[in-house]
Amino acid sequence: MNGPGVRVAALLVAALAAGCDYARMTNDEAVQTYEAPLPTMPAGTVPIGGGIEAAKRLPPTALRSPLPASAATVERGRAAYGNYCVPCHGPRADGNGTVGQSFAPLPTDLRSAPVQGQSDGALFATISLGFRRHPPLADTVSETDRWAVVAYLRALPLRPSR
Ligand code: HEC
Repeated sequence: MNGPGVRVAALLVAALAAGCDYARMTNDEAVQTYEAPLPTMPAGTVPIGGGIEAAKRLPPTALRSPLPASAATVERGRAAYGNYCVPCHGPRADGNGTVGQSFAPLPTDLRSAPVQGQSDGALFATISLGFRRHPPLADTVSETDRWAVVAYLRALPLRPSR
């Protein structure tokens, strides 16, 4: 491409460049990056051990509950289960939650052998990170509540054989 069109374009570019007053921009008052000291971070804000990162990195069988195996832990798990799991898995943990009925596959019966046969860490990883159609709940349910729910699942009566 050449001819008068190119020359007109070149002139236009030259005129525009001449019109730019770059000096003005450097004289502008502007917040200079890193000029102000950065606010210090409260200790413990960024976890450096455990937490969701460990759940992602470690094999699920290596994850251990930090909670005591006590009735209080199971009670805490029961409450958390009522808040976070009942809509899908149902009050009896048999997979018959109201919301869950619109899922395919349906929510798993948590009293069943395939679930109860898994390690605590594997259940914790499923709840935290999600599994197939299962939502990842690490950002919704606190780590303590997730472990407590695992303890509650262990305390469920096993699925009656039919
Ligand atoms: C939004 C609905 C929903 C919620 C909330 C939910 N689940 Fe699930 N869950 C499912 C569905 C659906 C499946 C079946 C997933 C599949 O097989 O694709 C499932 C499967 C599971 C499994 C079986 C995983 C496996 O290895 O087969 C476990 C364990 C489980 N859920 C635990 C929980 C616990 C504990 C909670 C509460 C903290 C919870 N779920 C909350 C829908 C839900």
